Amino acid sequence: MTDGKWDIAAVRAAFPALALEDDGKPRSYLDAPGGTQVPARVVERMGEVMIRHCANDGGAFRTSRDTDRIMADAHAAVAALLGAQSDEIVFGLNSTTLIFHFSRMVARDWREGDEIVLTRMDHDGNVAPWLIAAEERGVTVRWLDFDPDSFEYRYDTLADLIGPRTRLVACNHASNILGTVNDVKRIVAAGRAVGAVTMVDAVQSAPHLPIDVADIGCDLLACSAYKFFGPHAGVMFVAAPLRDRLTPLKVRPASFDMPWRHTPGTPSFEAQAGTQAAIEHIAWLGERFGGAAPQDPLRARAVAGMNAAGVYEARLMDRFLSGATAIPGLSLYGIASRNRLDARVPTFSFRLAGRTPQEVASRLADDNIFVWAGDFYAHEASARLSLRDRGGLIRVGLSHYTAEEEVDRVLDAVARLAG
Ligand SMILES: Cc1ncc(COP(=O)(O)O)c(C=O)c1O
Repeated sequence: MTDGKWDIAAVRAAFPALALEDDGKPRSYLDAPGGTQVPARVVERMGEVMIRHCANDGGAFRTSRDTDRIMADAHAAVAALLGAQSDEIVFGLNSTTLIFHFSRMVARDWREGDEIVLTRMDHDGNVAPWLIAAEERGVTVRWLDFDPDSFEYRYDTLADLIGPRTRLVACNHASNILGTVNDVKRIVAAGRAVGAVTMVDAVQSAPHLPIDVADIGCDLLACSAYKFFGPHAGVMFVAAPLRDRLTPLKVRPASFDMPWRHTPGTPSFEAQAGTQAAIEHIAWLGERFGGAAPQDPLRARAVAGMNAAGVYEARLMDRFLSGATAIPGLSLYGIASRNRLDARVPTFSFRLAGRTPQEVASRLADDNIFVWAGDFYAHEASARLSLRDRGGLIRVGLSHYTAEEEVDRVLDAVARLAG
């Protein structure tokens, strides 16, 4: 049970990578939106699977029966994380591959003259698959824009964009470039009202917020385990009614049962086990810092863990924003108000006057501070902000394992570059 007090040293001790140094310099992993570090339990679980339980599934012998159990447990864990049922979860290589895969099934009955709605804020993984499908089927693409000053969607345009011919509405929960947390419930409701399939990219929200697919009301929701402290794998929630309506892209001998119906070929069982371990890490946060009891259901513990991490991340965001906004020549592309921390995740993208983002990233790399520079595949958003041909932005991503001193460290380093 918790004492409620966030103990960053205890959190960091769970992640072996955080103790590594290079030539006496500690590492600051501020690259979390690109991929997070993993707790020891994830690595151990994956090693155990590969050493003790390595087989394909569906056989009569010991290791294969173990694999069946590993799969079932992992699907149940992801369902708990997202508020779904186990038979609504599909694992894949990554979110992009899953969205390509599902787009092909969803687009099958689109007709010329139909319409789909995509956004200017999404990562291209939730844009390009649908653009390609639209081109193949002769379908019109309509765009939900965002306001480049407020960094929020133009919700006022939804009524004009979505109509009786709309077959799909795809949007993102949190932006990987701006950090904005979007009102996906509102967008999904507008799509549902006209019978469109609704798809939410939760890749950047899953590491920071509790997700409840029933509350959002979407048909599809993707996230990537390697962004929430797990191994390289993607996960798709597919709501039961859509799941059963789709004509599966499966080989004939494969079972029609879930998850095989929508899981072509042999998945990474070790990645599934590692994903479960990552979710158990979040649940551990819930027990240790979020008031959950060990006997509580996994979902309750995971939600408590996300909420406890969220309180700590808000502290980090406040610290980052108060420091960053005081650095001369730093232009932040995202919500900067310290009163609106619940409208963003701790992903901060900015430019520094007189320096290219790539130059800033490599100067920080010299100090062993890991940040990204570029457009982060937010292809439409970088064009919308007139940044595509200017090197994009520098992106600092904080996480529940980031120490407050690391926030100061990156701010000091950026301030030196600004000076
Ligand atoms: C918001 C968002 N969507 C989709 C993706 C693509 O995820 P994956 O690498 O799992 O395909 C990313 C990756 O950075 C992302 O940030």
